[in-house]
Amino acid sequence: MIVRGAVLREMGLPSPYAESRPLTIEELHLAPPGPGELLVRIRAAGLCHSDLSVINGSRPRVMPMLLGHEATGEVIQSEAANFAPGDTVGFAFVPACGACAPCAEGRAALCEPGAAANATGTLLSGERRLTIPPTSDLPPASDQPSPSDRPPAAGTSLASEVHHHLGVSGFADYAVVSARSAVRIDPSLPPEIAALFGCAVMTGVGAVVNTARVQAGQSAVVFGLGGVGLSALLGAVLVGAHPIVAVDVVPEKLSLALELGATHAIDARGNDVAEQVREATDGGAHYAFETVGSAAVLGQAYAATRRGGTTVTVGLPDPSQLLSIPAVSLVAEERTLKGSYLGSAIPSRDIPRYIALYQAGRLPVDRLLTSTVRLESLNEAFDTLATGTSIRQVLVL
Ligand SMILES: NC(=O)c1ccc[n+]([C@@H]2O[C@H](COP(=O)([O-])OP(=O)(O)OC[C@H]3O[C@@H](n4cnc5c(N)ncnc54)[C@H](O)[C@@H]3O)[C@@H](O)[C@H]2O)c1
Ligand SMILES: [Zn+2]
Ligand SMILES: [Zn+2]
Repeated sequence: MIVRGAVLREMGLPSPYAESRPLTIEELHLAPPGPGELLVRIRAAGLCHSDLSVINGSRPRVMPMLLGHEATGEVIQSEAANFAPGDTVGFAFVPACGACAPCAEGRAALCEPGAAANATGTLLSGERRLTIPPTSDLPPASDQPSPSDRPPAAGTSLASEVHHHLGVSGFADYAVVSARSAVRIDPSLPPEIAALFGCAVMTGVGAVVNTARVQAGQSAVVFGLGGVGLSALLGAVLVGAHPIVAVDVVPEKLSLALELGATHAIDARGNDVAEQVREATDGGAHYAFETVGSAAVLGQAYAATRRGGTTVTVGLPDPSQLLSIPAVSLVAEERTLKGSYLGSAIPSRDIPRYIALYQAGRLPVDRLLTSTVRLESLNEAFDTLATGTSIRQVLVL
């Protein structure tokens, strides 16, 4: 079938993207789902900083790629026993094979075949289902040899495969996904809210409840108040952390964080942010969460924890960035530095839990939604995301 989607052909084009237009809206051929796969009509897809990091080249991926990994939709065709047409699904951005060593240990976020598929831009099966149809500017002529008989002339290209982004490729009206990327969810949620659970909420809340396991009454600080950081803040409120410090460079986000339950808000443009956090938390936070994607901010987060404290790194800095910390502090001060990918989640367990908490009023995820956007305005929307002023913009289809 022919679908419309946002394809990135080249990373690292200069911003503003409204001018360089790295994402092109193209008609692509989508092959039918293979065994264990689903054809899904995408209803909504959130814009995450990890999409922006592919566009700007700080998280390199194979090109061309159809972006978008935080999405929701309706199953149209199922080749998997546990899904049926009509099911509403969300996605995890790492498919979990269920059989590898990390999966067997309950660490679905570290699934090895899932990571390999994501690195090569395929579905879990190793297949790609998206191709750009062949184009030609040659005049139609019956005596022209077919493309298979001779190399393509200038201006002509053969059908080429397009890579899947993190097994989802949600910036399109339809997607074929592995059923192991999908989680059945309550169909009553508005799609622009449901989409957020797949990345921002699973990552941010999971960092607090799964990776850190924060206890009631322990202090927490969140650096960066985007979709992921505000979700971590909601998670900290949910588990009864106290005090809760929010740090960002955008004043409106600090105000929102206070509305959502932060007890202190610190503008990171001020002096010695770590010292300000230590003052607010009686000598340093039990838990610090870095959700900016900057090694420099990770250093601040580490310095903002107390002796015995834990720093959880969630942001994805450019691979060239290195972290420098006093090595002895890990030992003599019993500090912990932990990575958190996909919120250390088991998606099929956690997404329905977080949705139930949202529906019970305990996790106000709707406050993360800044605006809805259309396919045609994705480039402009990524300019907005880069400024830090939006939380989650969601593409609706
Ligand atoms: N670990 C995972 O599984 C996972 C999943 C999703 C996203 N991510 C990563 O998490 C990070 C956050 O994603 P997002 O979509 O929420 O991004 P975002 O761009 O929406 O949010 C980043 C926030 O950081 C703020 N910020 C910028 N500089 C700052 C500073 N010096 N101090 C404090 N705050 C500062 C910005 O104003 C913005 O509010 C990205 O690096 C993304 O790639 C990781
Ligand atoms: Zn994401
Ligand atoms: Zn696995």
